[in-house]
Amino acid sequence: MSLGLPYEATITAITRLVSDPGLHKPRLGIVCGSGLSTLVSSLKNVVQIPYSKLEGFADSTVVGQKSALAFGYIGKDNYPVVAMLGRFHPYEGYKPATVTYGIRVMKRLGVKDVIITNAAGSLTPDIPVGTIVVVQDHFALPNLTGMSPSFGPLTSLEYPRFLPLSDAYSARLRRFAFLAAHDLHFPDDALAEGVYAWVTGPAYETPVEGRFLRNAGAHVVGMSTIPEVVAAREEKLDVIVLSLVTNQVVIPDTYRSIKAEVKAELAGLSIERPEIGTASHEEVIAVGVLKAEIMRCLVERIADLVSSE
Ligand code: HPA
Repeated sequence: MSLGLPYEATITAITRLVSDPGLHKPRLGIVCGSGLSTLVSSLKNVVQIPYSKLEGFADSTVVGQKSALAFGYIGKDNYPVVAMLGRFHPYEGYKPATVTYGIRVMKRLGVKDVIITNAAGSLTPDIPVGTIVVVQDHFALPNLTGMSPSFGPLTSLEYPRFLPLSDAYSARLRRFAFLAAHDLHFPDDALAEGVYAWVTGPAYETPVEGRFLRNAGAHVVGMSTIPEVVAAREEKLDVIVLSLVTNQVVIPDTYRSIKAEVKAELAGLSIERPEIGTASHEEVIAVGVLKAEIMRCLVERIADLVSSE
């Protein structure tokens, strides 16, 4: 039972716009992050519905993200899937109910498992750019301070008031990810396991924020995904999160000291000025595009393993 969200209108619109009844009940949901919407080329008999035609969905305003729901069949068993091409973030000004709406619609269509992809910054040199991190846990400061999608009155009587998240990331699906990487002959370091830190952004982290997250036990950081994970767990879906590392978070061991530089300058000594790098959305998109094919193959193979269970 749901309280007040336009699920019925959305589902009716979908069944009207997707003529293949086999696609009305997708079993697998996929959320495509920055630069990763090429996943749609894995789908057969694909039907794309712009979010603008679906009540309850907003428009993704982020460069590099599309704004459509795609229905189709994936893999050798033609497993029916629905994919969100582009997602919503709180930093765009969207409320948690909008950010998580797609996940809740997936559940109402019949989805059992969700694969959520994203772009993330690495907090450790052990996880270089290009690695795909299979998320095993998350650290979500916003959830701890009132921005959880579960915060406030319950929107369904079926959601638990106190949602457990100690088992949020499905061991079954994570196992499939590593089996899929093996089947695809990926090198051992193509996939890692790690903890995802959720920040609301949209500014990238300062050095001390990066250090804080690393010291808190996180390996990668990003601005999406966790509201969707929380909603998926409320909806009793099995979840896997695949984070593509698109950049190293800049965490210098030492700061440039302007005080020391001025002293040296006044003493007539030569001055070394270390350059501090910066993160950029262009870099995030470029790595996303470069690695989209690897992510696409991985997701397709995971779908095969799910469908042959
Ligand atoms: N920080 C936060 N979010 C991100 C990053 C980052 O460095 N890279 C991609 N998404």
